[in-house]
Amino acid sequence: MSKSAGVPRQVRVRALAKINLDLRVLGKRPDGYHELRTIFQTISLADTLDIGFTTGRKTSIELEDELNIPDNLVARAAGLAMDAIGASGRVEMRLAKRIPMGAGLGGGSSDAAAVLLALPVLAGRALDARKMRELAEQLGSDVPFFLLGGRAVGIGRGSELFPLPDRPACPGVLVAPGIHVSTPQAYRRLSPRLTSESLQNKIVSFQSHTWDPAWGEAAVNDFEAVVFEQHGDLAILKKRLTGAGASTALMTGSGSALFGLFRNRDEVTHAIASLRDEKTFRISLVNRARYRAMWWRALGQHMNGRVWPPRSRYLR
Ligand code: C5P
Repeated sequence: MSKSAGVPRQVRVRALAKINLDLRVLGKRPDGYHELRTIFQTISLADTLDIGFTTGRKTSIELEDELNIPDNLVARAAGLAMDAIGASGRVEMRLAKRIPMGAGLGGGSSDAAAVLLALPVLAGRALDARKMRELAEQLGSDVPFFLLGGRAVGIGRGSELFPLPDRPACPGVLVAPGIHVSTPQAYRRLSPRLTSESLQNKIVSFQSHTWDPAWGEAAVNDFEAVVFEQHGDLAILKKRLTGAGASTALMTGSGSALFGLFRNRDEVTHAIASLRDEKTFRISLVNRARYRAMWWRALGQHMNGRVWPPRSRYLR
């Protein structure tokens, strides 16, 4: 990154992907969004974001990403964060994508949350937790989750979060079949099928599964019905994951990626071998303590103890 007036402060952060361990869509709300009940979980797959900040009189935001992602949330997040903290200067960012896009893994949302967490620290200005959450919600329904990490229940649009206790980490496999699913389109296809009767049943079964240690086998993703209808190959992939011994095999978000959770690493190795014709990733679930430790490690050198982490009911 080039240097200009002022001393540039730089940091490299990892923006982790998420999976939905359960996802129920209850119905369409008056604001056009759908009411959700979901369980988010951060996983080890990550993008890498380099962020540099140099104080200056004028603000400029530069983003280099090898894929030239249109309307990248990262640039929008930087603009919102700079306005909110009242800083001016040069923001230079470089994004290395590893998380497949349009796959239900929240990569763009995680990248945006990473900017909200890191940029105020680099600029030496506090962005309080409430404001940060507001900006996150403005950027997308999944963004607030990445301010928290670990395992959490998401309700409302998916942006109202309740931390869940960590469960023993189990290894997993992620399959990314390279099919780009449009989230708004998936909602449009699902919406007419949602009935008030199914709503009641879903709330009851979601609540009971949330605390159930044997939850895995009963995990549900409501999007599977509509997305599998269009892409039959995904239903086959799910069966292959179950056939390879996955205790849970589910599509994440509105797809198209699927994950399988296994009892041990040997089972994962075996599953990856049986899926060698597919693009797979070995993953592990990242709990909240590890997520926070990762952020402390990344930002520690630039912290003065007061700026980060933002205090909130989410970041206890
Ligand atoms: O919030 P986000 O920008 O990620 O949402 C993308 C689209 O997904 C929305 O425009 C909306 O069509 C749909 N959506 C929804 N209900 C949600 C989340 C997203 O209908 N809870």
